Amino acid sequence: MPKKTNYFFHSVSRKIVPHTDEELNRLAKNKLSQIRKSEAFEGIPKSFKENWDRVGLYHPTAVIEKAEALVLDPDDGAYALGNKINHLTGKQWTRFIKSWFVFDAIQSDIKEEKAITQKAGLNSEDHPATYSPTMMAEFIGFFTKEGETVFDPFNGIGSTMVGCDRTGRKGVGIELNEKYYEITKLRTKQKVIHGSSENLTELLHKNKIKKIDFSISSPPYWDILQRSTGDFEKKRSKKSLDIQYSDKEIDMGNINDYEEFLDRLANIYFQIFDFLKPDGYLVVIIKNVKKGGKNYPLAWDLAKKLGQKYTLKDEKIWCQDQVGLAPFGYPYAYTTNIVHHYCLIFRKEK
Ligand SMILES: C[S@@+](CC[C@H](N)C(=O)[O-])C[C@H]1O[C@@H](n2cnc3c(N)ncnc32)[C@H](O)[C@@H]1O
Repeated sequence: MPKKTNYFFHSVSRKIVPHTDEELNRLAKNKLSQIRKSEAFEGIPKSFKENWDRVGLYHPTAVIEKAEALVLDPDDGAYALGNKINHLTGKQWTRFIKSWFVFDAIQSDIKEEKAITQKAGLNSEDHPATYSPTMMAEFIGFFTKEGETVFDPFNGIGSTMVGCDRTGRKGVGIELNEKYYEITKLRTKQKVIHGSSENLTELLHKNKIKKIDFSISSPPYWDILQRSTGDFEKKRSKKSLDIQYSDKEIDMGNINDYEEFLDRLANIYFQIFDFLKPDGYLVVIIKNVKKGGKNYPLAWDLAKKLGQKYTLKDEKIWCQDQVGLAPFGYPYAYTTNIVHHYCLIFRKEK
């Protein structure tokens, strides 16, 4: 049986490869058993803990005193013991930090949510603007460690909650519409609260939620659903599917005044600030929108407003490539099919 390698480094080709020096491997073995007994062990990814006998030590230039990273599968990259944010290796981290990505709905996700809800006589397609749990899981995996708490104040039918199930995180969501709340309960056992996020502080206290490690959500894009194009409305009406989230006044999607919408939305995110851990992240997925021939830079205006409390750290642009396009403006004026969203990334800093 080949000897187990305890030590890895970066080769010239920038691939993680085993180090063959016997003395270095002996020293690495000692260092690994110290790590096993230290407090740091608790904080490492579950997959590493569960396969500890296969884990090796890593340093890019093979300086053993400085080696503070672990390797499970060399092709997946190395995990730094000092990783404060997530359970990703450097390679997985790098893949996520590109400033844009293309993502379209995944059929397996749609099938899964349909199957679960249909059994109970409900229809997940009723919600007019849902996201994929696969996409949510990517964000959750970057901004949290296993076991941490993720909060979505605009839960919808629970894509964030299913993302938490898939990644081993604790989910908490608030949803106004009772039907979407019921659909979520069919999909997940995470904590979902029926109510308005304008009362977020009260609702979280009542449900004994004291701390949030990360929040990700997509609010209604102002009153955009009230102005959906004929096609969208016709197709959905034919199938008796919802065209709006609700007709309630407290539904954020029914606030017609732009400034009022921005203020009330910001107020919801400001309430989250008090529950978010220091240095915790808040991601808001939103679009710039058009109304009455005018462009409203909703994403940018919200970014500026939330900057009163949070630090705007970055943006990640989400592009959809499989949305049907319409000849808007033809043949008179330039106007786009908006098929990109801003994932605004804020942090609670001192
Ligand atoms: C863009 S959708 C979120 C969809 C969700 N990400 C999903 O994948 O299912 C916005 C949601 O906010 C909900 N909503 C609107 N006003 C609300 C309020 N005041 N409090 C809580 N939820 C609200 C709507 O009912 C809708 O489900």
